[in-house]
Amino acid sequence: MVEYELVVERLRAAGCVFAEEEARLLVAAAADEVALARLVERRVEGVPLEHLLGWAEFGGLRVAVEPGVFVPRRRTEFLAESAVALARAGSVVVDLCCGAGAIAAVVAASVPGVRLFAADVDPVAVRCARRTLAGTGAVVCEGDFDAALPEGLLGGVDVLVANVPYVPSEAVEWMPSEARLHEPRTALDGGGDGLDVVRRLIGVAPRWLGSGGRVLFEVGSAQVEAAVAEVEAAGLVPRVRSCAEREATVVVGAR
Ligand SMILES: C[S@@+](CC[C@H](N)C(=O)[O-])C[C@H]1O[C@@H](n2cnc3c(N)ncnc32)[C@H](O)[C@@H]1O
Repeated sequence: MVEYELVVERLRAAGCVFAEEEARLLVAAAADEVALARLVERRVEGVPLEHLLGWAEFGGLRVAVEPGVFVPRRRTEFLAESAVALARAGSVVVDLCCGAGAIAAVVAASVPGVRLFAADVDPVAVRCARRTLAGTGAVVCEGDFDAALPEGLLGGVDVLVANVPYVPSEAVEWMPSEARLHEPRTALDGGGDGLDVVRRLIGVAPRWLGSGGRVLFEVGSAQVEAAVAEVEAAGLVPRVRSCAEREATVVVGAR
């Protein structure tokens, strides 16, 4: 108990907003006092809590996150739920730019019988996704964008979900240091207007989607109009879904 209170005090002094919750998790994760002191020290230095714990909570699940991998954001639970709503038993679902596999994990847990594929270019992310998705039957591929996917899926994907990087390059430097210093730039930077990777996604989607298939992705509220225009230009039918509580916006393109 004394240990817990000291940790709370230390974290609070360092500016941690959720000091009590973080202290509880760090105390539970540490094997002994020395390990706890080291964890607290690194947290005070600004290392993301999830990288210290080795997992992040997402959609009620634990997602494996090693140091250097993008930490799934709670906001993205809305994108995962949107994908779940479109999938049925037997659907082919692809989580492109899967990171640690958070979206795919929610789909696997929520829709029994889906055929699930996930892919990312970052080997650390792929290793985490394989751990996260172990036992689900999901196939996790490593490689650049859709080149990582099995060609046999061409024209047969029902749900192509992707939380791609969408922060405008200039805005990356204004992100919290936990993101800037501890997550790869390739996981954050979406180019000049933030939509470079979204455009790439929309560009390849028609080739992968089957009849009635959907591509869906998250954007910032200021990017919705431009993203919808891109979806229309690709010959897909756009729809926008928002969740005020999570401050999340999802664009869906239907084939
Ligand atoms: C914003 S993170 C999202 C990760 C995960 N979908 C999530 O929501 O937690 C973007 C991911 O895109 C991946 N990525 C960036 N460029 C890529 C590319 N050319 N091919 C495959 N993955 C890429 C990054 O490695 C990173 O894991």
